Amino acid sequence: MSRAAPVLTIDGPGGSGKGTIARRVATALGWHLLDSGALYRLVALAGQLQSLAADDIEGHAGVAANLQVTFGVQADGSEQILLGTPPIDVTAAIRTEEAGLGASRVAAWPPVRTALFQRQRDFARLPGLVADGRDMGTVVFPDAPLKIYLTASVEERARRRYNQLKDKDSGVSLLALLRDMAERDARDMSRAVAPLVAAQDAIVIDSTPLGINEVVAQVLDLVHLRRLHST
Ligand code: C5P
Repeated sequence: MSRAAPVLTIDGPGGSGKGTIARRVATALGWHLLDSGALYRLVALAGQLQSLAADDIEGHAGVAANLQVTFGVQADGSEQILLGTPPIDVTAAIRTEEAGLGASRVAAWPPVRTALFQRQRDFARLPGLVADGRDMGTVVFPDAPLKIYLTASVEERARRRYNQLKDKDSGVSLLALLRDMAERDARDMSRAVAPLVAAQDAIVIDSTPLGINEVVAQVLDLVHLRRLHST
């Protein structure tokens, strides 16, 4: 019988460092990476490009079911995300705060989540998968052998996001980010389907006082302790 691919899930609120840490851990292990938030961002953006009404649930579910996306890397090793045919480069467009809020809006709709479910499951391939999101450990990969819930205080998360954005976007304000982040957390945690919550068997890491390297090291230690990786 063929061995199932081990899955490490990393869930948590925006700005907790999940994305960076998931990428670093996947690279260190040589595993695949699922950035599930990017899929919700892409659905919101594609809906906007197709001029769908902001409250058109079925329209967005159709977009989710037919999403044509290529996750790649640029020459400098950073991510490249292409949408549709002919492909358009949406790498920068999906990372804005506006795209994040759009993602949180469409992510609350069950038909959109259902349409993305199997696509996310299909990322689990040998030698292993690091899956980053809000419901990776609770809904999409409930049998994952290692689940992390990564959090940090809302002030610390807003400060990190501010430092990330301030060079790219001179109009960004720390106070507005704090407000948007609290709004997004509230919506993600209170929605009826797949709310943001730590899985019962998740290990919670509060990254407020920790640097990225420390969190990556803790997660890699856990992977090795559970013997999920051969070296
Ligand atoms: O992680 P990221 O900030 O890219 O996610 C954007 C939004 O997509 C989140 O605020 C959340 O509403 C939604 N999301 C989700 N389930 C996931 C990943 C993201 O609902 N697994």
